[in-house]
Amino acid sequence: MEDARFEAEYLVRTLGGLSRADYFAGARIDPARAAKIDAAIARRSEREPAAYVTGEREFYGLAFAVGPAVLVPRPETELLVESALAEPSRRDSRVVVDVGTGSGAVAVAVALAPGGASHVVATEISADALVFARLNARRHSSPVRFLRCNLLDAVARADIVLANLPYIPSGEIDALEPEVSRWEPRVALDGGVDGFTLIRQLVTDCARRVRPRLLALEVGFGQAGAVQELCDDAGARTNLVKDLAGIDRIVCARWR
Ligand SMILES: C[S@@+](CC[C@H](N)C(=O)[O-])C[C@H]1O[C@@H](n2cnc3c(N)ncnc32)[C@H](O)[C@@H]1O
Repeated sequence: MEDARFEAEYLVRTLGGLSRADYFAGARIDPARAAKIDAAIARRSEREPAAYVTGEREFYGLAFAVGPAVLVPRPETELLVESALAEPSRRDSRVVVDVGTGSGAVAVAVALAPGGASHVVATEISADALVFARLNARRHSSPVRFLRCNLLDAVARADIVLANLPYIPSGEIDALEPEVSRWEPRVALDGGVDGFTLIRQLVTDCARRVRPRLLALEVGFGQAGAVQELCDDAGARTNLVKDLAGIDRIVCARWR
């Protein structure tokens, strides 16, 4: 496994209740906690993601409950939150919509950020994912309105639309690392034959009906050019945002 040493430390410290200093000083762990660590290592050996094993993942400085019903939030997705916060216009009266909210990470982070939005709406097709999203919003006392629907179908107005939709081509999922292909929900990964089925639908709906000030779409490695072209063809002005690895990660499209 990549980062095996770091992951082992993370599991032992988190479940053993140890600080980093205690960990490196060789502090003793009581038998009850040691049993929990053994169980966690057995699960991780089956390639279950560490975040599912501990039940938590940090995103934008906040702890989110996660489990096999939701995608584990990734660090690069924080760029979606930053795209919304960087949008200068009318922060006090704007509606931000997170499409395909999963654990609720993006919606909750925007709702809690000072000046993020006056209203945050989150949509999701999976009822099981919505259980996590609602739990996380409650946990952070974050005023997000959740809607179970396809993409933006139940949304009348949006100033900013943020979306990390499934974008992996169906035929490529099985070749991904087991943590993803075996454990993360298909509905969170599968972007159809070319990966763009849902992105295409969302861009069309934004262009024809919702016309947000900003649509920010997270895309996979090598996909930004094709998605930018989709948005250009739908009459938007577009630009790309790179992630920390220098990969074009967010396509921003504007219709107003
Ligand atoms: C890649 S995951 C992103 C989850 C979360 N936003 C994040 O970034 O961690 C995509 C999410 O979109 C949801 N989804 C898939 N198809 C959808 C659809 N047609 N309408 C709304 N949500 C959908 C999935 O259930 C999943 O939670």
